[in-house]
Amino acid sequence: MCGIVGFIGDGSPVDAVVAGLKTLEYRGYDSAGVAVVSGRGLETIKAVGRVTALEEKLSSFANECSAAIGHTRWATHGKPIEENAHPHLDASGKIAVVHNGIIENFISLREKLIAEGHKFEGDTDTEVVAHLIGKNYRGDIVEAVETTIAELDGTFALGVICADEPEIIVSVRRGSPLVIGLAEGKTLLGSDAMPILPFTRKAIFLEDDQVACLNKNGCVVREKGKEIPLDITEITWDAEMAEKGGYKHFMLKEIHEQPVVLEKMVRSRIIDSGKNESKESFPTLNVDGLNLDEEYIKKISRIVIIAQGTAYNAGMVGRNMLERVARISSSPEYASDFRYRDPILDSSVLVIAVTQSGETLDTLEGVRMAKESGCKVLSIVNVVGSSIARESDGVFYMNVGPEIGVASTKAFTGMIAAFYVIAIHFGIVTKKLTANETRRRIADLSGIGPRCDAVLSTEQYIKSVAKKYKDATNSLFLGRGTGWPLAMEGALKLKEVSYIHAEGYNAAEMKHGPIALIDENMPVCVIALKGRRYDMIMGNIQEVKARGGKVIAIASHDDEQIADIADDIIYIRAENGIMNSILCSIPLQLLAYHIAEARGCDVDKPKNLAKSVTVK
Ligand code: F6R
Repeated sequence: MCGIVGFIGDGSPVDAVVAGLKTLEYRGYDSAGVAVVSGRGLETIKAVGRVTALEEKLSSFANECSAAIGHTRWATHGKPIEENAHPHLDASGKIAVVHNGIIENFISLREKLIAEGHKFEGDTDTEVVAHLIGKNYRGDIVEAVETTIAELDGTFALGVICADEPEIIVSVRRGSPLVIGLAEGKTLLGSDAMPILPFTRKAIFLEDDQVACLNKNGCVVREKGKEIPLDITEITWDAEMAEKGGYKHFMLKEIHEQPVVLEKMVRSRIIDSGKNESKESFPTLNVDGLNLDEEYIKKISRIVIIAQGTAYNAGMVGRNMLERVARISSSPEYASDFRYRDPILDSSVLVIAVTQSGETLDTLEGVRMAKESGCKVLSIVNVVGSSIARESDGVFYMNVGPEIGVASTKAFTGMIAAFYVIAIHFGIVTKKLTANETRRRIADLSGIGPRCDAVLSTEQYIKSVAKKYKDATNSLFLGRGTGWPLAMEGALKLKEVSYIHAEGYNAAEMKHGPIALIDENMPVCVIALKGRRYDMIMGNIQEVKARGGKVIAIASHDDEQIADIADDIIYIRAENGIMNSILCSIPLQLLAYHIAEARGCDVDKPKNLAKSVTVK
């Protein structure tokens, strides 16, 4: 995890780095620090806690310098204390390093350096890197970094400055994200594009082991010691999109963005919805980026969906869609388990990697393993240019805009919509869908924006329900069919932002254990929309009520029975399968948000979490 930033050139490097670090706090916020190089040499300032704590320390610090690097930390090696905060210095105190990632062989490297007389202030793997670069320094910091990375195992994105070469910053990555921004008279680096967006949209995404030497007029990229041409990408997001837009928290803003971003995404994927009623008139979808030809799709024997956390829950919904719409056998897997097993894979198996950040390490390693086993990999990703997007054979970009709130919301519903488009495309290609059926399914997707808006309009009522349950210590979320992954997601959202213990279960499993927990102190949130499993769900609600449990039901707007048994009911205008899974997610997100708010929790920065999990 962790976020790194760098700035060299005209302007105020420290201010730019601090502003950049604030945008990266979603990656970790245990401690923060900056190092600057100026006429006075190299200076570092660090603080435990949020970037604001660092900012306070910096208020008395002169901002005259040519370059600065900064770091916001999510502790892996060593406690969140100042000694372990980055930047770390080499033995001479002339070289400073910020690092995101994990150096797997740092213990052996550290022991060797200690035997040679090096002394370490903290416990981090990064300090070892700084000492190694210092040891390898012979007057050329780029060469010292190149020599050093050959000795490192693991993952890293590094920013390095040197007092003796104040006009450059050196940067390199292996497995960890890194973006370089090229602006007029200044050059930047960041763990994602947010720190560079206020200055430029021109970006370079380095490949593994490419070393960049940044100066105020641009940068030089080297691979194996030789300069290579720059591969410049234009970023289409703008920094304003990531501001809070008047909402108290990013999480709330992102929940409210769903009508717009989902509608936009769906429209961009439907070229023609096949209004013509003829048997042969199939709708036309835009499947740009998938990169899977029709002959290949027809031969897919099985789909394995790999993901973590919320993305895994979306993968469970995706499995149901692929099975039902495209009739292709599919199974969701936690990437963290998949990559360490011996799964049976061959070229007929399609692996779909689902990830908002495109950087989750287990998912990335799962992608690599799948490719080595001869599978094609399609990824559903939000962050453009991320590692998983770049390593996949094809990418479906959700394009829901930057997601800053640590608890994923719009990316979850974006993933569901993406799965539906993919499932329909596969169903058309494999001829499992008729033209009529395809038109009906495409129609399901249209009008998604206004329907999400209608659910959001119940927010004040959901807030009042949230207040009622804010002091709960435990809770259950139940659902069947697609309601099951939604229940898992509802529970995950609640626990991560409010710290209330929450379990998401398939309602059918309740009798096999969780029912023992039900009493008058146990709120049970049930996804109870009308549909194939409605009667069974109503039976489960009766069982909860019979044991004194309190039921919060998410129900169809025209359900006349549910008011007789549920304690609190959030009605949604349920229309059809795909729409329901998206619409149902919104009250679950709002419930979690407002419960957390009522408990006074720091919604956007829940304790112990980080937005992008780039460690095993
Ligand atoms: C929960 C949440 C996490 C992520 C998980 C995977 O709200 O955000 O569970 O879903 O860490 O992250 P990505 O989608 O970036 O691979």
